[in-house]
Amino acid sequence: MITSYLFVIIVQIILCGTGSNALRITLLDIPSPLVMGESAELTCNYDLDDHTLYSFKWYKDGFEFYRYVPRDYPQIQYLKIAGINVDVRKSTKKSVFLHSVNLATRGKYRCEISAEAPSFITAAKEGFLDINVLPTQGPKIVAEQSLYTVGDEIVVNCTSDRSNLEIYLNFTINGEPISNSIDYELTFWTQLHADSLKTAGLSLRFILTTKHFHGGKLKLKCISTMSRYNLANEANLLLTDYNYRPEPIQFISSESQGMEQFYESFIETVYKQTSKHFIR
Ligand SMILES: *[C@@H]1O[C@H](CO)[C@@H](O)[C@H](O)[C@H]1NC(C)=O
Ligand SMILES: *[C@@H]1O[C@H](CO)[C@@H](O)[C@H](O)[C@H]1NC(C)=O
Repeated sequence: MITSYLFVIIVQIILCGTGSNALRITLLDIPSPLVMGESAELTCNYDLDDHTLYSFKWYKDGFEFYRYVPRDYPQIQYLKIAGINVDVRKSTKKSVFLHSVNLATRGKYRCEISAEAPSFITAAKEGFLDINVLPTQGPKIVAEQSLYTVGDEIVVNCTSDRSNLEIYLNFTINGEPISNSIDYELTFWTQLHADSLKTAGLSLRFILTTKHFHGGKLKLKCISTMSRYNLANEANLLLTDYNYRPEPIQFISSESQGMEQFYESFIETVYKQTSKHFIR
């Protein structure tokens, strides 16, 4: 008597376990973060058990934008909403393919499946898709003036291209990294834009001394780095001391080889003299 009663309970538990609630989403795969402009497939695998699929849908922030309904014609229907560009040829009854993602693509994505009548039960799963905007250009470096010489104060700015990521900027002078000190004043700033992207800037102020010019030249470099994508980029500025006078040319030999060398160095000197008023 007791054993058959227990048997009934066990059978009921098994029926509940495999019965009307077995519809479930087994995997939701949302590749995140994506980089602006990329394309991606959002996948939602499900287990129908003994149910028949009525609909498979995708929502972004609560708005339905994609549905696959086996009984409908066409089976796949989608809406064009901000940030959502569905590639219907690459979308299926388990996935949606988004091309050219942008900042508006960022949001909460939900996939939902429903079973046919009579149960109409549904199952859903939700995940977040984030978008990163990488700078499309390298940093820019500008000096306040175009002409400098020893004793002048110089202000050089370096600015990054817009991004939502943290960008580090660093200066080097003739290849030597510069940090804040008595000799060098560094100021870091960021500017927030309406689209939530940021521009990073670094200003460097210092007094020019003879040690900064090598052969009348000063090489400034700004390096921008992004830790997440392990990307580095740089901008260069070559300044020429406008008071610099190259060493006079020594006439050493009258042999033809010597003459060639003489003309080569002469041409180089003329080039230096003509180009020294320009910043490149
Ligand atoms: C450099 O940046 C500072 C601070 O933002 C700004 O006041 C100055 O005008 C900038 N100079 C140049 C040459 O861009
Ligand atoms: C570059 O700048 C960052 C701050 O923006 C600083 O933490 C880092 O030490 C600098 N790197 C070098 C090599 O100076």
